[in-house]
Amino acid sequence: MSDAIVRPFTPGDADACYQVCLRTGDHGADATALHTDPRLIGEIWVGPYLERWPKHAFVLTEESTVKGYIVGAPDTAEHERWLEQEWLPPLRLRYPLDAFPAGTADADCVRLLHNPWKTPEQLASGWPAHLHIDLLPEMQQRGYGRALMNAFLASLREAGVAAVHVGVSSANPGAIAFYRRLGFRDLHGGTVWGRATDPA
Ligand SMILES: CC(C)(COP(=O)(O)OP(=O)(O)OC[C@H]1O[C@@H](n2cnc3c(N)ncnc32)[C@H](O)[C@@H]1OP(=O)(O)O)[C@@H](O)C(=O)NCCC(=O)NCCS
Repeated sequence: MSDAIVRPFTPGDADACYQVCLRTGDHGADATALHTDPRLIGEIWVGPYLERWPKHAFVLTEESTVKGYIVGAPDTAEHERWLEQEWLPPLRLRYPLDAFPAGTADADCVRLLHNPWKTPEQLASGWPAHLHIDLLPEMQQRGYGRALMNAFLASLREAGVAAVHVGVSSANPGAIAFYRRLGFRDLHGGTVWGRATDPA
């Protein structure tokens, strides 16, 4: 029987979260073979949230091994200001724009470090929080994504945050089905989804 649990993130979980990010980083599939630098993708999608918003990070563990996480920012506008001021400058020095051959997944990550996505004001004011969630394949479709989401939404409600959005690739129909099932509605052509933090 599985002894899987969802619990709050602790700093010792960070490396395992980076691993899960890599193993789910190709539109939900394993991106390990695509990257020569195994940590770079995590520096974008998971590291900054663990550093800046640890109280809104939760992990899924089985036999004490981290096999999934949800991370996010309760205030997207503040998160993006902090990225520019604190998180990205040292990474831009470590990874200059020509650090990897053009067309590789690592080069795509480096481009994002230098030209990060800027959330439109209207989206950030209506749905101020945003999130990222990833579970290893063996943990998927067993109700744990829903459990992680419930923990994250409760943490947002506790912080007084009323609504959340999430970006999803159109190449990831499983994730879209998941968000739809959890009460998210399409905010932008199937690639941005949002919902209130109140229980659905
Ligand atoms: C997408 C993901 C987070 C969903 O988590 P999960 O644990 O697999 O989902 P759950 O088992 O909690 O499912 C919750 C509901 O969503 C539905 N759902 C989940 N995955 C689904 C899929 N691939 N297709 C259709 N429905 C799905 C479930 O049927 C369930 O509905 P129910 O409660 O009425 O039975 C997880 O599969 C995952 O990490 N995938 C790889 C990484 C990824 O794509 N992350 C998202 C990037 S935007």
